[in-house]
Amino acid sequence: MNKYELPQDSQLRHKDFVFGVATSSYQIEGGVAEGGRTPSIWDTFCQKPGKVDDGDNGDVACDHYHLWQQDIEMISDLGVDAYRLSIAWPRILPEDGVVNPQGLAFYEQIIDACHARGMTVYVTLYHWDLPQYLEDKGGWLNRETAYKFAEYADVVSRHFGDKIDVYTTLNEPFVAAFLGYRWGIHAPGVVGEREGFLASHHLMLGHGLAMPVLRKNAPNAKHGVVFSASPAYPLEDKDIGAANYSDADNYQWFIDPVLKGEYPALITEHQAMHMPMILEGDLEIISAPVDYIGINYYTRNVVRYDEHGEIKIVPQPENEHTYIGWEMYPQGLTDLLVRLNERYDNMPPIYVTENGAATDDTCVDGQVNDEQRIRYFQTHLEAIDQAIRAGVRIDGYFAWSLMDNFEWAFGYRQRFGLVYVDYQTQERTLKQSAIAYKNMLLERAEENK
Ligand code: FCB
Repeated sequence: MNKYELPQDSQLRHKDFVFGVATSSYQIEGGVAEGGRTPSIWDTFCQKPGKVDDGDNGDVACDHYHLWQQDIEMISDLGVDAYRLSIAWPRILPEDGVVNPQGLAFYEQIIDACHARGMTVYVTLYHWDLPQYLEDKGGWLNRETAYKFAEYADVVSRHFGDKIDVYTTLNEPFVAAFLGYRWGIHAPGVVGEREGFLASHHLMLGHGLAMPVLRKNAPNAKHGVVFSASPAYPLEDKDIGAANYSDADNYQWFIDPVLKGEYPALITEHQAMHMPMILEGDLEIISAPVDYIGINYYTRNVVRYDEHGEIKIVPQPENEHTYIGWEMYPQGLTDLLVRLNERYDNMPPIYVTENGAATDDTCVDGQVNDEQRIRYFQTHLEAIDQAIRAGVRIDGYFAWSLMDNFEWAFGYRQRFGLVYVDYQTQERTLKQSAIAYKNMLLERAEENK
């Protein structure tokens, strides 16, 4: 297949539906000691033996810090409407209270280059690269970090104002809090139930504190937050409770405070002894209205209770998986979007801000035949179409990722790009999946002429 087929009469064919590609700062930039940047928690974490596959780190990554110009051209050549990127906090505030004009200038060139090519810009303020100097004071376990985040949001939004079309406070607080501070799989590598919930509350508070700041400095931009979600399915009827709990832990714990102004009772009751200190007024701050929410979807979880009443994820070996070991389950995306729409009365428009697959790609004679990724995108675009037909408002879709990059604890072995990166030469090659995206967008542009 050389292009994705959008269903007839699909909203996805409409010119106002936003198609984009996404990246994040630490995963692509490199240049970690350049332009006045200081270390983030990921620079530190990567140095700890055994934390990242093959001992990889983000020192060079895709060298986007130097190659950004050609990268923006490449994005524009795909014909997308929008580019979703993130800003590295330690480039903007390399020391506590010290603004780095070079950091702001780096992102300004990129934003200008996108606009010059007619693309809108979606900027995430926090895609996990917390300045190490804040971690040294407790990181997200310290309530003060939420206020520091609002200061950082102020610096960025005062500088850029409405020049950034769409602001995102946080990317996936679930991963930042639970992988980072509960299970220790991500930076900073803290393990503890109490710590996980405390970090999550402070992240959400940071989001809430930043919202009025962003609105004031960028009154015409859109403001929101991005969540990951892997919807749960019970293995058998007796496991329905396990699935409900899994949904609460996996995404409702993060989305409910924003859209309902409360934490889900399933968690506050079951985890009573680990609950964070929630001060009066915190939930009002966190539940400030948002213009949209972003949803990142990759896979689902099938769950059951084990003999001790513990919830276990049940692998589905008979189903198709991607190279990273995640089940390919497009129906999960439709189900998730419909479930969310049912759960929240005041559901703002949704962007699917990430979706994609890691495959075991090789570049042969300048060609990358990523057949599975093509099927992944095709079926997930259809899944979004289904959700729209079921009445969910979805305004856009961002493929993860523009190009292969530093896949966190998996290092460089997991390739999520539409574009293949040769890390020896930094050469970029459009995979077949990128060509299919481009052809689909070309056809859509023709239709909408
Ligand atoms: C998401 C992250 C993104 C990337 C994909 C595969 O959880 O937001 O940075 O790692 O997973």
